Amino acid sequence: MNMYDTEVAEGLLQNQGMQILSSFDETAGTLPGIAYSPFPEADVILMNTCSIREHAEERVFGRLGLLKEAKRVQPELIIGLMGCMVEEHREKLFQKYPHLDLMVGTRNISELPALIEEVRKERKQVARIKQEGISIEYTDQIKRAGSYHAWLPVMTGCNKVCTFCIVPITRGSEVSMPAREVYREASRLVDDGVRWITLLGQNVNSYDGRKAEDGRRKEGQNPSAAGLHPSAAFPELLDTLCQIEGLERISFTTSHPSDATEELYRVIAKNPKISRRFHLPLQSGANPVLKRMKRLHTYEEFKQKIDSMRRWIPEISVTTDIIAGFCGETEQDHQDTLRALGELCFDDAYIYKYSTRPGTPASKLADDVPISIKEQRNRELLELQKTIRQRNNEQLLGETFEVFVEEISPKDPSQLRGRTQAEKTVVFPGPQSLLGSFQKVKFRALRHETFLGILEAEPAEKAHL
Ligand code: 5AD
Ligand code: SF4
Repeated sequence: MNMYDTEVAEGLLQNQGMQILSSFDETAGTLPGIAYSPFPEADVILMNTCSIREHAEERVFGRLGLLKEAKRVQPELIIGLMGCMVEEHREKLFQKYPHLDLMVGTRNISELPALIEEVRKERKQVARIKQEGISIEYTDQIKRAGSYHAWLPVMTGCNKVCTFCIVPITRGSEVSMPAREVYREASRLVDDGVRWITLLGQNVNSYDGRKAEDGRRKEGQNPSAAGLHPSAAFPELLDTLCQIEGLERISFTTSHPSDATEELYRVIAKNPKISRRFHLPLQSGANPVLKRMKRLHTYEEFKQKIDSMRRWIPEISVTTDIIAGFCGETEQDHQDTLRALGELCFDDAYIYKYSTRPGTPASKLADDVPISIKEQRNRELLELQKTIRQRNNEQLLGETFEVFVEEISPKDPSQLRGRTQAEKTVVFPGPQSLLGSFQKVKFRALRHETFLGILEAEPAEKAHL
């Protein structure tokens, strides 16, 4: 979501005649006695922030501290923050960091150019943080990073109450874009050369176009005016988007187990355009922990969902999120999570050490797993998952897959890089003319998580044609 918001912000600012410089250089000018300046040539430095874990926030606070130095040598510099930390901390940050000029909430990105102008003219601290509504901004001014791939947010916010999570506080309740607008934006992207869209939402599969349409109807709009499917839950939305000619692949992230239904699996199974990678966070394999997390499912129920998904879509690649060392997690709970990883054989797992987030229900529980134990459990989970991933991946060696050719390999310009329908990355030698096309590639070796491949030769008569 932040990558999308950054692309929107960059596009809007570029359209105002600004030049976008590359990313932040953390090492610049930090030598003792030399004033810090990461970008001597920049007039504005914006950080798009995340609140999900303490570590992400600490890095932003660290950079804000360093930027105080930069402002001493460049008094005209404008320093701004976007993203969830703005929603969480709000104007309090102005007192703590007097050199911070600008704060833009997640629902106010379109105002960014005007706000920068306001700071430039009046040289005072400016914040715009709207509490209600949707933070999604569809704009053709977006500066997309990829030629063939685009992010497409369809909903924001979260109505669940996972006790560890700050998202309901920073992003508010669930709000969906009307299906008609999603369809129109997807079609516009395809007209612009995009072949692959990733639908985004904090709970993307809880998307509810009906609610969005109801909202619009009250505002006096006719939802079916464009003749497009006017309202949809997530499976219908996916099904409808598959009808867009020229759109070759659709991914989505992140899903919540409660809305991972057979109806959704059925739609995926019948549509080869839908990615065969499904990210479904488990968080813990121990029922007492899941209960304290208020995850709304037991481990057994989660396993049933995965079993059912694999029955409907046997080729599906499932990935997950795990939190190590949540409040009250015992050694037995940890062993249960290790067992769950072994049983469910995820293709990948993102494993995080628990950190308390202010204002969340879990912030009232004792964060009682010592950091050394959190680190050890984190390591054990990572090691086990690495073995499972390796085993899963090795089973694919020697097979041929349809690969979408995305880019020239950043590490070796003689090679191309692409991803399969299950979003496995492969690099292989081939001409640049294949960029943006689908090719059959045989997996011949594995280097860490990347496959090395070779283009499958066309059958003689087809090649001749
Ligand atoms: N501490 C550690 N990890 C967290 N996540 C969310 N909140 C926290 C927290 N307080 C993880 C969850 C979620 C992923 C996006 O981040 O695993 O699925
Ligand atoms: Fe956070 Fe839970 Fe909502 Fe996901 S479902 S955003 S983990 S509260």
